[in-house]
Amino acid sequence: MKPQYDLVIRGGTVATAADLFACDIAIAGGKVVALGPDLPSGTEEINAAGLLVLPGGIDSHVHLDQYQGEGIVMADGFETGSRSAAAGGNTCIVPYALQRKGQSLREAVADYHAKADGNSLLDYGFHLIISDPTAAVLGQELPALIADGYTSVKIFMTYDDLVLKDREILEVLSIARQYGAMVMIHAEGYDQIKFLTDKLEQAGKTAPYYHAEARPQLVEREATHRAIAHAELVDVPVMIVHVSGKEAMEQIEWARARGIKVYAETCPQYLVLTADHLKGLNMDHSGAKYVCSPPPRDHASQEAIWRGIVNGTFQTFSSDHCPFRYEDAAGKSSPKGRTSFRWVPNGIPGVAARMPILFSEGVAKGRISLQRFVELTSTNHAKLFGMYPAKGTIAIGSDADITLWDPDKKVTMTQSLMHHGSDYTPYEGLEVTGWPVTTILRGEVIFDHGHPVMPKGFGRFISRGLAGAVAGAS
Ligand code: URP
Ligand code: ZN
Ligand code: ZN
Repeated sequence: MKPQYDLVIRGGTVATAADLFACDIAIAGGKVVALGPDLPSGTEEINAAGLLVLPGGIDSHVHLDQYQGEGIVMADGFETGSRSAAAGGNTCIVPYALQRKGQSLREAVADYHAKADGNSLLDYGFHLIISDPTAAVLGQELPALIADGYTSVKIFMTYDDLVLKDREILEVLSIARQYGAMVMIHAEGYDQIKFLTDKLEQAGKTAPYYHAEARPQLVEREATHRAIAHAELVDVPVMIVHVSGKEAMEQIEWARARGIKVYAETCPQYLVLTADHLKGLNMDHSGAKYVCSPPPRDHASQEAIWRGIVNGTFQTFSSDHCPFRYEDAAGKSSPKGRTSFRWVPNGIPGVAARMPILFSEGVAKGRISLQRFVELTSTNHAKLFGMYPAKGTIAIGSDADITLWDPDKKVTMTQSLMHHGSDYTPYEGLEVTGWPVTTILRGEVIFDHGHPVMPKGFGRFISRGLAGAVAGAS
């Protein structure tokens, strides 16, 4: 007789955002169908003794194949980016579909579908980056796209090609409120950055390190406060993304104390890198490998971020994977980028490193519980971006998206383990404890012991619902 289950994962310790228990998991038709001890056998069996059995990681802040302007090319498209994510224990990613100025939002979405179709190893949705909020975009395209499952947008308070005026931000927030979309905000002040950049260049301070001096915490703090004030005015929840230190956190905590619904995300670079990394070897160009925005800060900021991870200031921990090649004229070493930090493409790779860094620095070092780890790396992403409970947990009826995790494995992070398109990892040499062993998407092993198992294209587009409730933000 054919076994009743396609796959049984046996003998592991299951961790969800709420619980920690020993049990077997039975999977049929890509879904979890039974949880319990001594389940009948499946067509396939995996022995998970000694391993943690976690909901597959969800990284809700990933940039893949995103348009970067003339001459600059991102190092990962959907094939290598999703492969790298799978190597790091993820089963789902939410990259961005970027609207270029003058472009219709629908056209932008169609472009990114064309890039992802048949290439993604992981399931994926899209956030919409709105750079040109015309009447047609706000009045027709955005409401229709929200209804079609593109239920989150990102807007920018800086970058020449992306920055929105305050009035435009308010208009986007109003539409989000009307239709229930989640708005992610990149909070850094455009004019302050331009002012500081000009002054630094005039003083001959053009090395990559000065990227950090051009974007001090004050710039992030002011924009975070302004974004929150806009959200309060419109009365709509917002998420402040890639929070780098104490000053922006204080604004978020202040807002929450007033009952304003503000969610917050942080990233691995703010835990294990500092602005000193941008100095490279004696202020040479190699600091460009660490140029991202906001920039990594200092050790006091790292401690502040830990406080927010522990006490609930942050709901999500994402990679902000935004990969470029270093030894490449279309990447970090473009001819213009060599003349000034102003032109170095912003962003670093990290989708494979995200979960191991938080597990090692957080769980293995006793700072956070396993349940909080799951919440920060999977469950809250699914809830906030309308994928829960199909994604983000291990429960009967959920997609069988599961990562088998060796909590004791000691690994030195290195480029060859990242499986990405970039030619370096900013986390080279970092020693971690805990590593993903097997990544399972909808009941199929997609990445196992350092190797992709399923071909590209196994991932499916997810039409997402509206945000659900998450503990932590008022
Ligand atoms: O430097 C960064 N973070 N680049 C990616 C784009 C963004 O702002 O998230
Ligand atoms: Zn951003
Ligand atoms: Zn980003």
